[in-house]
Amino acid sequence: MASENTSKTYRIAVVGGDGIGPEVIEQGLKVIDAAGVALETVDYALGGHRYLEDGTVLTDEILSEWRAFDAIYLGAVGTPAVPPGVIERGLLLKMRFELDLYVNLRPFKLEGSHDFVVIRENTEGTYAGEGGFMRKGTPHEIATQGSVNTRRGAERAIRYGFELATKRRNHLTLVHKTNVLTFSGDLWERAFNEVAAEYPGVTTAYNHVDAACIYFVQDPQRYDVVVTDNLFGDILTDLGGAVSGGIGLAASANLNPARTGPSMFEPVHGSAPDIAGQQKANPIAAIRSGAMMLDYLGEAEAASRITAACEACADMSGSTGEIGDAVADHL
Ligand code: NAI
Ligand code: MG
Repeated sequence: MASENTSKTYRIAVVGGDGIGPEVIEQGLKVIDAAGVALETVDYALGGHRYLEDGTVLTDEILSEWRAFDAIYLGAVGTPAVPPGVIERGLLLKMRFELDLYVNLRPFKLEGSHDFVVIRENTEGTYAGEGGFMRKGTPHEIATQGSVNTRRGAERAIRYGFELATKRRNHLTLVHKTNVLTFSGDLWERAFNEVAAEYPGVTTAYNHVDAACIYFVQDPQRYDVVVTDNLFGDILTDLGGAVSGGIGLAASANLNPARTGPSMFEPVHGSAPDIAGQQKANPIAAIRSGAMMLDYLGEAEAASRITAACEACADMSGSTGEIGDAVADHL
């Protein structure tokens, strides 16, 4: 008898990107296919290589096409030959801002140790682009880079954290630096405490970001869900990856929880030019990101089968394609 797969076909915009990006995305798509979920994919050649070719980073036309997709699946973008900021601001941040991907969700799990999720606010803070230069290039040069924190922006990330905690172990930790960042930290702390009153079943904690760095390494079992701002979240989640089996395993989702447009799913790692084109990249991070995409699209059963297969293959060594095949065979 045929298995009862849902008959829905999801439309996915695929950005393999640069370096190992296309190599790992190929494995992710292979595994999703093996899990029996039908995707209709459209490839977008974007990233450092495209920029060097014709100057295209991310056009408004492409962005408006993307709004009609169910999700975006991205490998990694960036090449050493492109000046810093061009791809980060012009593609990744533009995508987050324009599609309002305000939750950056990164799960971290290490068998026998910890299992927690970090929610990084993804549209504000020091990444908002506020600031500028004065007297650039002179000995009296000044550069400022402000941190933009709106009550609405902090609250919606915090609220997502409480909601997620109710589906897990009912514990939420706010990470900030309220003792020094007395304006933004104060806004975050008040928003956190006010929303907490609506979730009496969720216990809460607060850590300064520097202390959180110690706990991530020495006592990560204390965490269930963590919510934090954009910059702290960027740094903390690299540390989270490092204590959870390494960068080759770390997956992420960039969510528009209001579902006014597509969400984006990508491994945490970059394009790894040092190992690109050699089939040395671990595809597990990209495959797990694909599972997060399926989960978000409502294919929870296929998503958890893929995640379990990734866990079974997490310690495997082999080429990118061999690991992808092993995960697909394990389903
Ligand atoms: P990276 O994550 O590309 O590489 C850091 C180190 O981890 C390298 O030694 C690399 O070989 C290794 N590594 C990364 N992914 C791996 C995998 N799947 N399997 C095995 N080893 C892996 O970070 P890096 O070197 O700072 O950045 C390289 C380029 O990627 C830059 O242009 C950067 O801007 C871009 N980048 C893009 C991101 C994105 O698309 N979201 C995120 C981070 C960096
Ligand atoms: Mg990072």
